[in-house]
Amino acid sequence: TAKAGRARVYRGTARNLARLAGVLREGGIVAVPTETVYGLAGDALNAAACRKIFKAKGRPANDPLIVHIWELAQLNVLAERNEAVDKVAGAFWPGPLTIVLPKKAVVPDLVTSGRPSVAVRMPRHRMFLELLKRCGRPLAAPSANPFGYISPTTAAHVRESLGGKIDFILDGGDAEVGLESTILDLRDPKNPAVLRPGAISVGEIAKVLGRRVGVVKKIADLEAAGSSGAKVGSGGGEIAPGMLSKHYSPKTAITLHRKLSTAVVKALRADEAAVFLFKPAGGEGKPGTRAGAKAKNVFWLSERGDLRRAARGLFGMLRALDGGQWKLIHAELAPGTPDGFAAAINDRLTRAAAKR
Ligand code: TXA
Ligand code: MG
Repeated sequence: TAKAGRARVYRGTARNLARLAGVLREGGIVAVPTETVYGLAGDALNAAACRKIFKAKGRPANDPLIVHIWELAQLNVLAERNEAVDKVAGAFWPGPLTIVLPKKAVVPDLVTSGRPSVAVRMPRHRMFLELLKRCGRPLAAPSANPFGYISPTTAAHVRESLGGKIDFILDGGDAEVGLESTILDLRDPKNPAVLRPGAISVGEIAKVLGRRVGVVKKIADLEAAGSSGAKVGSGGGEIAPGMLSKHYSPKTAITLHRKLSTAVVKALRADEAAVFLFKPAGGEGKPGTRAGAKAKNVFWLSERGDLRRAARGLFGMLRALDGGQWKLIHAELAPGTPDGFAAAINDRLTRAAAKR
């Protein structure tokens, strides 16, 4: 058995899943794999369990949690459905999309930070779905990182940064998407708005809904509106997602570049690293590794222009470079007019680079 405060990593055997489901049912918390990033899960209908999540993460009480479900019937327990939800859920669930809806009374105020809305997602990671089913409860799960730090995409990441605070980590391998879910505000089905870009693009959602989908572009706007947040769409009611500009921050300073030129690379100092999304000309080695023996401080994320691959490796790369060995990281933004993966990558990079 795990010692208190000393995380043990569990493989997804039937026996382990049964045991961890029991832990969750009894109000314990467990770090779980999802297709986006690892989450720190607890029974969403048990306020005491959710309090443990906030505590382990050092998360402020005004940053609400996402609730995970394994079947649509559970959505009725948690939230008010509308016709737009049915379309979008039909198209993208299970998957990396979170939907914000008016909440029902059964959801503890702690989970939604006192908001009248709740964020719900049906993940597509098989091991997590199995755990949800066995547990029989909707599970609240924010990303399993200390508040403000880079989200974990492996069980090892979770252990590195939360290992002293939790007992149970379920290892489901490397996260397939690598960036947090797209968050879609559907409180008003006529005014859908994306609050956080992710793998599911605005364009894809608009197509399924057959109407324009708004985007909350400027995190700064939300912050300027104060801690109670800004109004989004005409859904009414305050909304203050944890869209702090300094989220996902490594300790190392980051400078962003529209395009990392060879001039920048040539001018790199010995204590500066450059991260390309795509393999630069003359680059050697494997994705996620150094570009070549001659350029010890040049890294890249995808073989050729594969944004999915770049997204998958981004957080792991930022963590690996954040060990204090570099003074400054130069990072390249995704090109073009971004949506989907490109928008999500640029959003995370922009926040990682934000001044603290
Ligand atoms: O991919 C994901 O969404 C991952 C995995 C574990 O599912 N979870 C995740 O959770 O990224 P977290 O806690 O790091 O981000 C949750 C964010 C909050 O910071 C907030 O922006 C938004 O979800 N959120 C939650 N409830 C909300 C609500 N009622 N209204 C608006 N935004 C909400
Ligand atoms: Mg998070």
